[in-house]
Amino acid sequence: MPLPPADLDYVRKLVFDHSGIVLERSKAYLVETRLTPVATRLGFKSLEEFVRNLKNTPVNGAHRTVIDAMTTNETYFFRDIHPFEALRKNVLPEIIQNRESTRTLRIWCGACSTGQEPYSISIILKDGFPKIDNWNIQIVATDLSQDVLEKAKSGAYTQLEVNRGLPAMYLVKYFKQQQDRWVIREDIRKRVQFRELNLTKPFPPMGRFDIVFLRNVLIYFDNPTKQQILGRIQSLLAPDGYLFLGCAETPVNLNPNFEAVSFGKATCYRLKR
Ligand SMILES: C[S@@+](CC[C@H](N)C(=O)[O-])C[C@H]1O[C@@H](n2cnc3c(N)ncnc32)[C@H](O)[C@@H]1O
Repeated sequence: MPLPPADLDYVRKLVFDHSGIVLERSKAYLVETRLTPVATRLGFKSLEEFVRNLKNTPVNGAHRTVIDAMTTNETYFFRDIHPFEALRKNVLPEIIQNRESTRTLRIWCGACSTGQEPYSISIILKDGFPKIDNWNIQIVATDLSQDVLEKAKSGAYTQLEVNRGLPAMYLVKYFKQQQDRWVIREDIRKRVQFRELNLTKPFPPMGRFDIVFLRNVLIYFDNPTKQQILGRIQSLLAPDGYLFLGCAETPVNLNPNFEAVSFGKATCYRLKR
């Protein structure tokens, strides 16, 4: 049963207010397919009854479940490969050279989903840069969704998930098989700190970052939200730092303080000097 327009608008506003995600009216099918199983699981006879209940109660765990269900968590190891090549061949060597005196490296992965992206970065650091193994290295990985963060923290992936993007050599070297899961090695996992963070709200104090990955999330927001987020990133990115966005995302026409830098087939951004 299609959701009545007023109920659909209620869900669209709930999701927008709490995550910044813009759901066009044409996405009614998406709302229905993602929320009907949630309604059933929570014991409601229909999606309409579930939404009526949400409307009549203050925002609580059920509303959160709806917001979580409406996020798109698609990710995989070394997604799109070129940014990770640029990280390994160009960006990390340059930043590491600039940080010789402090021996500190801080990387933020701003919409980390189930963890494949920050773990890909952690693998590159371990595998390609043994020289900095004893540096103070922090990878902070954040997401809005508690569900994905729980999975990310576990560091455990199915066969299907490790088949997506992870080179066999890294699987053998950095994962251990436990029953039907592949569990990431403790030293790779330990470098990543997972936290909840809503990109559309003012950020908590996080310090400076040398590298920011914020990939495949700006696409879900409207332009004012993208501008706000890029403005906040501008103030926490080190002056010589690099920002990686998804391949369909750009600061062009949103924030004039970034300039594009191309490394091979990857484009990343840094602050204009
Ligand atoms: C498509 S995934 C991208 C994952 C990874 N960055 C990648 O490129 O493979 C988008 C992620 O953004 C998160 N997200 C959506 N809205 C958010 C918000 N307002 N604040 C923080 N994370 C958000 C979702 O929960 C989801 O895990």
